[in-house]
Amino acid sequence: MNNLMRRAQNVQLWRKYCVKQYTTEAASAALSRGKPNYDEFIAGRQVQAQRSIVVQVSSEKSYSELYNYCSRFGSIVGAHHYCVRHDDDLHYILLEYSTAHEAAAAIDSGATNGDLSGVPVRSPFLWFKAAPGKRGPKLAPNNNNNIHHPPTSDLQSVDGTRQLDQEALLSQLRGAESIEQQVQLLHRHTQLNDLGVRMRFLAALQVQQAISGMFPAAQAHPFGSSVNGFGKMGCDLDLILRFDGETGGRKQSSGEPPSRLIYHTKENLSNGRSQTQRHMECFGDMLHLFLPGVCHVRRILQARVPIIKYHHEHLNLEVDLSMSNLSGFYMSELLYMFGEIDPRVRPLTFSIRRWAQACGLTNPSPGRWISNFSLTCLVMYFLQQLRQPILPTIGALVKAAEAKDVRVTEDGINCTFGRDLERVGFQSRNTSSLSELLLQFFEFYSQFDFHNRAISLNEGRQLSKPDHSAMYIVNPLEQLLNVSKNVSLEECERLRIEVRNAAWILESEVENSSLPQSERQEETWGLLNLFKHPEKAIIRPNMFFKPRMVEVSDLFEEKHQQLQSTIGPASTGGA
Ligand code: CTP
Ligand code: MG
Repeated sequence: MNNLMRRAQNVQLWRKYCVKQYTTEAASAALSRGKPNYDEFIAGRQVQAQRSIVVQVSSEKSYSELYNYCSRFGSIVGAHHYCVRHDDDLHYILLEYSTAHEAAAAIDSGATNGDLSGVPVRSPFLWFKAAPGKRGPKLAPNNNNNIHHPPTSDLQSVDGTRQLDQEALLSQLRGAESIEQQVQLLHRHTQLNDLGVRMRFLAALQVQQAISGMFPAAQAHPFGSSVNGFGKMGCDLDLILRFDGETGGRKQSSGEPPSRLIYHTKENLSNGRSQTQRHMECFGDMLHLFLPGVCHVRRILQARVPIIKYHHEHLNLEVDLSMSNLSGFYMSELLYMFGEIDPRVRPLTFSIRRWAQACGLTNPSPGRWISNFSLTCLVMYFLQQLRQPILPTIGALVKAAEAKDVRVTEDGINCTFGRDLERVGFQSRNTSSLSELLLQFFEFYSQFDFHNRAISLNEGRQLSKPDHSAMYIVNPLEQLLNVSKNVSLEECERLRIEVRNAAWILESEVENSSLPQSERQEETWGLLNLFKHPEKAIIRPNMFFKPRMVEVSDLFEEKHQQLQSTIGPASTGGA
């Protein structure tokens, strides 16, 4: 079968997959059931975005007027207010209709404003023009005979993306009963909220709709922390754009013969990578020139995964758009599943990410330091290798895969693993509390031999390091790559020092936390002492940790692994 035919077959398969998975009712039902799997979660949120519009208003007080005006297009089932802060506060209301048709009717009614310069573009981002005259808006005939004036309190959120300020958060943590509760509170107050997720799916939909005329099968999918359940308020949006709707991956088996009608396509002018770069350059221009809200577009096309970065001013959101990183999309699914397996996984990871940020181990810009993603992998591995594991290995998920789980990206990367957690059948017998786990995490990495050992989440064990990278975490889906290749020796050493400090601090905090609250000497206690400013962190002598004894059996195991290593030769690319 030639390439064209295979491609057409894949697109057809993907459409079939979409139709099956993405019906409004099924997706919405799965979302409201409360525990959707990853596909259901993504599909449910996409459908929700299709039912939504974002309208700039003069303040949240405009809600009643907006509600009445917009009710003519259909039934409004939800409304959320948020602010974008510049010199002035800009106010927005996200309205959710009961169907995508109704939202489309509202968007299609949009007029262009003669006062404004700029190319009119159809998009879910609108603004609500002040009604002419003092007597308020002149309403066109409404389907509802009884005009309902909902009070502003009907808004499901007012200033719904405002984060708890640092002082308020610290005071919450100070007032907690236990370290356990501090970990839970930190998670609850800093995780990406429902409105944040809605806004990210609307940003994706805007890109998708903008190009849908030319690329009807195009799909823009959020991935990374926006969807994997490890995102905090204000996190970036990672977005993958596919022209051919293949984000759901290539499905290998099919009962149906491929269509005999094949699209004529433009011949590839160059190799895959430079073609992607050309396409992205062109998209970068299009986003920059035409898409409302998109600004500060930057092209980073020489990276292993070329991306376009931009800021969305109506959503106050940083976006990283890629077109060729399907394995990252499936990696997000793996993390999503890990977060679903045990309720301790996400709160624990949030505390560890926060600690790393506080002591300057992570940094929002990429560099020689550990990324949040690598740090998350360290947490996942820690939870896998416990005597009573809290997470299964990825190998165990792969073993549980059925035919419907087969996903192979167009670059041939096999992203097949069991998606049905019941079928995976993993049950943890670990009963440790969050504070115990936190302490064990720091102790574990205080002793970890980063110098010689690599971490494999696939096998849930250490391997001997196949190259001289300071830190080696096998990329679970592209096993020739090292997720933490960017980490310098110096940063790896700093991590070791900081985990040691943290273990030292936490050990005494755990002891203190058993005292009743009234008897605690310090206002700042428990988790808060881990989050102190780096200048305040003291490098402690290695008092509590014996130097790691190299055991003879280890040496044998290492030699054996060098021969048998499944991760192959050192990779040339980063991950
Ligand atoms: N990813 C990957 N391999 C890497 C880096 C990233 O597979 N070496 C995937 C992961 O699924 C990751 C996603 O790309 O979640 C986005 O990467 P990044 O934005 O760096 O991490 P996030 O998890 O989104 O965390 P953050 O909140 O810091 O953005
Ligand atoms: Mg991200």
